[in-house]
Amino acid sequence: TPEGARDYLVPSRVHHGKFYALPQSPQLYKQLLMLSGYDRYMQIARCFRDEDLRADRQPEFTQIDVEMSFVDEEDVMTLNEGFIKRVFKEFLNYDVPTPFRRIPYDEAMDRYGIDKPDTRFGLELVNLSDLLGETEFKVFAGALANGGSVRGINVKGAASTLTRKEIDKLTDFVKTYRAKGLAFTRITAEGESSSFEKFLKPEEVAAIRERMGAEVGDVLLVVADKNQVVYDSLGQLRNHLARKLNLIEPNTYDFLWVTDFPLFEYDEEEGRYAAKHHPFTSPKLDQLDNLEHDKDHCYARAYDVIINGYEVGGGSIRINDPEVQNKMFKALGFTEEQAMERFGFLLNAFKYGVPPHGGMAYGLDRLIMIMTGTENIRDVIAFPKVQNASELMTNCPDYVEDKSLAELAIAVVKEEE
Ligand code: AMO
Ligand code: AMP
Repeated sequence: TPEGARDYLVPSRVHHGKFYALPQSPQLYKQLLMLSGYDRYMQIARCFRDEDLRADRQPEFTQIDVEMSFVDEEDVMTLNEGFIKRVFKEFLNYDVPTPFRRIPYDEAMDRYGIDKPDTRFGLELVNLSDLLGETEFKVFAGALANGGSVRGINVKGAASTLTRKEIDKLTDFVKTYRAKGLAFTRITAEGESSSFEKFLKPEEVAAIRERMGAEVGDVLLVVADKNQVVYDSLGQLRNHLARKLNLIEPNTYDFLWVTDFPLFEYDEEEGRYAAKHHPFTSPKLDQLDNLEHDKDHCYARAYDVIINGYEVGGGSIRINDPEVQNKMFKALGFTEEQAMERFGFLLNAFKYGVPPHGGMAYGLDRLIMIMTGTENIRDVIAFPKVQNASELMTNCPDYVEDKSLAELAIAVVKEEE
């Protein structure tokens, strides 16, 4: 049930053509164990997710999954800082400073354009929107009129490296993140060039340069668009520039928590709100009314641990009040019947009293990827899947004999061309 948690229920046993789908979604599994009275639980769990592959993502991967009763955010974070500290000390002899820095999600987006910022270098995003309220430059005015923003990055001292030709390459780069263009100003001792200043009033140019701290030698890069596009393109551009300009000191690690995630995200395709993490994540307790009336301003008791710009783990304090759980299902568009049908076992168990509990899960492979200094998760997984999710060694997925399919009561339907 990818609906309840992102991990599939794996049919664990087949008997006379019926599946015995134990709650092998790691999240549901530990939820139910907490409900039944365990106070601490740890599993190393295989996970199966139908997601696109990326350099740090595989469809089959492994989690270290932790859950505890009678805890709050502080307990979970402190315990896990201890875990990371010990692992880095024992395996890399690296001293991890604790406590980790904490950045609320909204601040991470505002400063870095991404919810897993790499904070080993600067290049922070600068919001220019309020300086351009009256602008006549169509590109900027249009983005603002659509509820979007204009933001930029000052690439300090990079004017000699970032030639026009290089800036064209960066423009192609941000276009892969749906930006329509990359406006720039390049200030060298010999002179200045800008793709957009000529369209602005002198006081707008001055205000932008002041806000961005522009000096001789700098390159200002600006994107105007819907917020999500601005964040995606500048957030990725930031990481790209840091590598290109060698701004990251090798063999350093940077640890932080991103907290206060939004509870929901709006799914434009489906036209409804979905849980950003999963439907058992507790809302901030002082925002329960927003569940019904203001879903865009509901925040979660959720946290992610970020190392060098990778989300290594994440979790939350869970809902332990049946009323709140019902409200949550309702907010996600389940009728009472649908909620009962899918999660009846959970809602029924809630009646007997649920301890406050919370936890988190690490991507074990991803953690090892970072600790071994590789940038591809395939390097640390035996028989990794390639881009189309197939496994080349065993030629999997492959055809299954009709006899085996019949035994499992599975029919294979031809994919439409
Ligand atoms: P989440 O979905 O954030 O949380 O996953 C936890 C961690 O697992 C790793 N991860 C992956 N690693 C490799 N390939 C993938 N496809 C992949 N997807 C996720 C990441 C991520 O931080 N049940 C919750 C945890 C909880 O609430 O306790 C969960 O699965 O490092
Ligand atoms: P134009 O008026 O289309 O020639 O655009 C002027 C400059 O703005 C060019 O350098 C474009 O690359 C840049 N530009 C166009 N669209 C955007 C956008 N959405 N965000 C930032 N810059 C843009």
